[in-house]
Amino acid sequence: MTSFKTVEGIWADRLGSLRNVVRQHVIAAQLSEHLDADASVLDIGCGQGTQAVRLATRGLQVTGVDPSADLLARLDEAAVSAGVEVRTLAGKLSDLDGLLDGERFDLVCAHGLLMYLPDGEAAVRALVRQVRPGGLLSFTVRNGDALAFRPGIRGQWAKAIAAFDGTTYVNELGADAEAHRLGDVIGWCERASLRVEAWYGVRVFTDGRDAADTPDPDSLQECLTVEVEAGRRDPYRRMASQLHIIARA
Ligand SMILES: C[S@@+](CC[C@H](N)C(=O)[O-])C[C@H]1O[C@@H](n2cnc3c(N)ncnc32)[C@H](O)[C@@H]1O
Repeated sequence: MTSFKTVEGIWADRLGSLRNVVRQHVIAAQLSEHLDADASVLDIGCGQGTQAVRLATRGLQVTGVDPSADLLARLDEAAVSAGVEVRTLAGKLSDLDGLLDGERFDLVCAHGLLMYLPDGEAAVRALVRQVRPGGLLSFTVRNGDALAFRPGIRGQWAKAIAAFDGTTYVNELGADAEAHRLGDVIGWCERASLRVEAWYGVRVFTDGRDAADTPDPDSLQECLTVEVEAGRRDPYRRMASQLHIIARA
């Protein structure tokens, strides 16, 4: 597995890509159906803070944790531009006990993180420790049930054949990463005493688009509407690039 640090520069260069714009919009729309006003939020692996700043803009009290000083600096800039406050802490998931000293949150988010960690279930166990009883955990995984879909719609047949039974993949940043199947993820939640309230797909129809494609301003709103709808309906959500799980502690 590749450390995210080695591809961080590529990630930062592509924040305005269609693929990322769709991903961020769809996750925010899905999360908005589960938010309480004034909730406290921990966003672990918050990176540049796209979701952290959006949540703060809605009036939530947000703490972002990430090991990257450069991405946290981007978050700070975005928060200033949006006129909101986000507490930022430098650290990894494994550092949370020391960083937060027992603090618990109404909502804990981990988006785009588990594919870079060696043990998804252990990560969920670490995340749930930060959720107050009755609070929510929101996390995404690379959808291991549909790993052949992206190479398939791109006509990359050899990659698609290898992906049907794969559990790892090379992502658009060039990193080796982990994919997870919905049934396994639901099992992690059950064993961590989490009740799955909802699961969604993230990025269906735009997943085959080139990593460098940027949004077309004339069609972006319709595209986002289609992706949000696809993310909540069968069979489309099952074909999504990522799964977004919302579970209650
Ligand atoms: C793909 S980015 C996602 C950023 C943001 N959550 C989003 O969805 O746009 C992955 C983030 O995880 C962070 N990260 C990598 N390893 C981590 C770890 N062990 N603990 C916490 N964050 C980590 C990276 O620095 C990076 O900001």
